[in-house]
Amino acid sequence: MPQTRLDIARIRAAQQVIDPIFRNTPLYRCEALEPHLGCAVSIKLETANPVRSFKGRGSELVASQLADTGSRALVCASAGNLGQALGWSGRGRGLDVTVVASRFAPAVKLDRIRAMGAQLELVDGDHEVARERAAAIARYDGIRLVEDSLDIETCEGAATIGLELVDTVPSFDTVLIALGGGAMATGVGHVVKALAPGTEVICVQPLGAPAMTHSWHQRRVVSTDSTNTIADGVAGRHPIPAVLDDLLLVADDAVLVQEKSIVAGIRLLLDHAGLVVEPSAALGIAAILEDPDRFAGRHIVTIVCGSNVDMDAYHRWVGTSR
Ligand SMILES: Cc1ncc(COP(=O)(O)O)c(C=O)c1O
Repeated sequence: MPQTRLDIARIRAAQQVIDPIFRNTPLYRCEALEPHLGCAVSIKLETANPVRSFKGRGSELVASQLADTGSRALVCASAGNLGQALGWSGRGRGLDVTVVASRFAPAVKLDRIRAMGAQLELVDGDHEVARERAAAIARYDGIRLVEDSLDIETCEGAATIGLELVDTVPSFDTVLIALGGGAMATGVGHVVKALAPGTEVICVQPLGAPAMTHSWHQRRVVSTDSTNTIADGVAGRHPIPAVLDDLLLVADDAVLVQEKSIVAGIRLLLDHAGLVVEPSAALGIAAILEDPDRFAGRHIVTIVCGSNVDMDAYHRWVGTSR
């Protein structure tokens, strides 16, 4: 059992708390993709829910625990998907949700955060600036700060994906996980290493937002000054030390992929799986495209983790050179 901050009994209990609408998501072999990738590929589809990403699993845990304590307000920084998810989970429980986001986040994400009834504050900087502002609001207003990947509920919520993987797929060799702050990778990684230890856990980040991957390889926090990627959901610069410690215990590797591979992954998922995805959700496919020999003949699971994408950008990515 990996000695991370996470706990299998709590993750099992979380399954009872999270709204069923986010759980037991489709998991299926996608044969049409396989000739293009040279390996067996199963998709874990986390987009067919009201917030179009896996973040509803963690937000349900956060919101239900907060509601149980009688508190009524929370604030978070979000690249766009956590904010929607907390908005959804908070709305159903009568919580006041404030979301701080970069004004450069995709408009579709910002619009959906507002549509969920959350109060949205925009900062004139990137996600790290939003994190600082959210912490300042929490201090000033004396309300709960939800820190994605640091707060254990965000990791253990995402970890329920791992339970569904090990309970359903008879055997797979590798799971590819998009890596941002690390809630999903530490969550799914913890469960896989605890219950299916022979399975390889590989995290995938863009070359243009490599801070956590560099940190994993150097076994110390490495920050970057900027990011440059279309995968807005994973574009952090300052890894959280406690999350890195957990990731070091559960990940077998962390790899970086080029932007053109992310775009190719988006296209493959549209053309051969009928899936519209946001760039972060194509990172796993991008990793296979960049290193087919590594995965040849193996059975790979990739978590298709979000589909909140600005349609103008999406059409540019899928429309060129056809
Ligand atoms: C679609 C999508 N993929 C991947 C990630 C990265 O997940 P994590 O921050 O848990 O590493 C996020 C984070 O918000 C996301 O929205």
